[in-house]
Amino acid sequence: MAKSAWGPGSRSGQAARMTYAAPTYEFLEARARKRVPKFAFDFVQGGTGADYGLDVNRRGLDAVEIVPRYGDLRRADTSAEIFGRRYAAPIGIAPTGMDALIWPGASMALARAARSGNLPYITGTLANSTLEEVASVAAGNTWLQLYGFPRDGHKVTFDLIARAKAAGVTAIVATLDAPVRAKRPRDLHNRLVVPFRPTPRTVYEVATSPAWVGALLRHGSPKFANIERYVEGRPSLDQVAGFVQKELVGSFSWEEIARMRRAWDGALIVKGVLHPDDAEAAVQAGVDGILVSNHGGRQSEAAPSPADMLPLIRDRIDGRAHLLFDSGVRSGLDAVRALALGAEAVFCGRAFLYALAALGDSGGEHFAELIREEFAVAMAQSGAWNVTDIPNVTYRHRSPFGVSGV
Ligand SMILES: Cc1cc2nc3c(=O)[nH]c(=O)nc-3n(C[C@H](O)[C@H](O)[C@H](O)COP(=O)(O)O)c2cc1C
Repeated sequence: MAKSAWGPGSRSGQAARMTYAAPTYEFLEARARKRVPKFAFDFVQGGTGADYGLDVNRRGLDAVEIVPRYGDLRRADTSAEIFGRRYAAPIGIAPTGMDALIWPGASMALARAARSGNLPYITGTLANSTLEEVASVAAGNTWLQLYGFPRDGHKVTFDLIARAKAAGVTAIVATLDAPVRAKRPRDLHNRLVVPFRPTPRTVYEVATSPAWVGALLRHGSPKFANIERYVEGRPSLDQVAGFVQKELVGSFSWEEIARMRRAWDGALIVKGVLHPDDAEAAVQAGVDGILVSNHGGRQSEAAPSPADMLPLIRDRIDGRAHLLFDSGVRSGLDAVRALALGAEAVFCGRAFLYALAALGDSGGEHFAELIREEFAVAMAQSGAWNVTDIPNVTYRHRSPFGVSGV
């Protein structure tokens, strides 16, 4: 076995215990479900509509088969250069708004995981900590996801960009795929709406989740930390949530992306692209990167898996922008699959949140290490010794849009 492979024996103390408790994403998800209030778990796990998108994403990745190669016993190097910076692996943390609902204090815990694992972390506009707080912990690893606040010529949006520049954030990720609020039936059923008013059921769920209550006491209630300063006075959570609901638009026009390009000289990425024509328009607007994503199945129930669309986008863009991937990534093998199809890096949303909910404040560090090790093993099984070899692995991809690979 290549030296980069893990064995519980290679780990000590807490790390070994975490490996036994949750050796994969699936174990983390199951353990998270037991430890947090159901309304919080549902908020993270749920998709839009009948959750069909979650299956679509899984099927899209499972349809990529990689033919193993042997005869070379070098150790795989998982490190990758992304927008001019070298990370431990081409695997990062996707932005998740209201992240503290499933694990209070989530944003700072993820910042620490990004720093110790040397992975990129796209902190969200709606994260629980400010981008300045995140960047102060994970300097160089912090990217900022942006939603738009169109009022007054995007005053708030461009203030967020200026703050990102001042804080040393290296990339802006403008989300395109939430132009309207998607219906999330589980949240409605759990009455997770603004203003949030506890019901006997939510009180019971909280009372029976002692680990989560402990985290709440340590870290405080969830908040929209980046946004508070734009709401007058000393606003309550309900008031900030009301502001967000009224002012935020989860998409941008191509003109707005072009304007952002003029204001920001770091890496500019658009997130949520599935159509090759939109990828083309993004390149014309001047982006450096395109994050091919269906928002983890949370926006459009009819959206295809990004794994199905990625080869079409790769062929259309033909190297004119860096392609990134998310939605459904659960393992290091999934990362190899997406890189074989043309992505340069993948991002995980739910996985890191489940890791915190399952294992506590240091769960993010555990998942960062777990997925990097899985990635090294999947590389070694595929005949890829460097990340740049992965596009040349032999794979077969049977997608509804055609067959590619061998
Ligand atoms: C709880 C939750 C909140 C999210 N919030 C945001 C957000 O505020 N902005 C955004 O661009 N994407 C958001 N996403 C989408 C993620 O960035 C990412 O696209 C998705 O989680 C990837 O799929 P995965 O969860 O299967 O890894 C959110 C996802 C989840 C699960």
